[in-house]
Amino acid sequence: MRCVWWTLAAGALLCLPGGAGLDNGLARTPPMGWLHWERFMCETDCGKNPSGCISEQLFMQMADMMVSNGWLKAGYRYLCIDDCWLATQRDENNRLQADPTRFPGGIKKLADYVHARGLLLGIYQDVGKATCAGYPGSQGFYELDAQTFADWGIDLLKFDGCNYGTLELLEDGYRRMSIALNRTGRNILYSCEWPLYARRLTKINYTEVAEYCNSWRNFDDIEDSWTSLKYVIDFTASLQGELVAAAGPGGWNDPDMLVIGNFGLSWDQEVTQMALWSIMAAPLLMSNDLRDINPRSKALLQDQEVIAINQDPLGVQGYRLLKVI
Ligand code: GLA
Repeated sequence: MRCVWWTLAAGALLCLPGGAGLDNGLARTPPMGWLHWERFMCETDCGKNPSGCISEQLFMQMADMMVSNGWLKAGYRYLCIDDCWLATQRDENNRLQADPTRFPGGIKKLADYVHARGLLLGIYQDVGKATCAGYPGSQGFYELDAQTFADWGIDLLKFDGCNYGTLELLEDGYRRMSIALNRTGRNILYSCEWPLYARRLTKINYTEVAEYCNSWRNFDDIEDSWTSLKYVIDFTASLQGELVAAAGPGGWNDPDMLVIGNFGLSWDQEVTQMALWSIMAAPLLMSNDLRDINPRSKALLQDQEVIAINQDPLGVQGYRLLKVI
């Protein structure tokens, strides 16, 4: 519950439902940015697909686009790497390393490039022994990996939940990584998938999730289709009693990426995603190709009136009042 002074003639204290998120000073409004997964997935073959493979070149080009095409100005600040950036092995000191052929400069250099343009860099890891795509996970290395990310200048960690072992390991891992990130002293926004994986085994304690995470996924991966969007929307509504109460400055429900500007949605469906994600106080993480996006989708994603609803400082997540059909 959060309370604000409502400036009526008499002055009144208005209390709204809403949680207190992770108190690390970050994500006071829903994070905005770009994330590679839905559009580029795990394409590692740069020979066959040089412009679409997961490589430093892809992120440098997106960084350039974010600045030159008004995305940063519109509020999209986090440029985020998803799965498949890693080499298949840790180095001789157990430190994570990026795939040397696709990221020859390494992540630190990429972070410098991104920061020089006023953007922030996000990266992906997994609480379990391996990431969902099979690269080395963080289990057993939480403190070391958090320090590595801080040393590289990472600003956001998306922490996935594949290959975790037991529920205890899963939950303990999410807590430990949160503490480890905090101990590095660097501002690293912590984006979790804890409830998505734990829901299969237990009832979610959202108060606790929100104490450790700046955002959290509740539902399966979004795809570039109306069917997928509808699932996410219906699922969110079916759980809204719990979800709406958990969201607030510092911690947000994450219904997954915006797929606007791709192939699968009609114009009306794109408008619907933008409107509902904004009302739901969702992170606005686009997954599309900023080098080649149609002007109408771009204008929709950059619409300042809609973004203002998403970025409202009170951070109250909207909910479904009525279902007509
Ligand atoms: C899981 C996550 C996705 C993406 C992939 C990467 O499925 O939920 O968002 O990160 O893993 O392998």
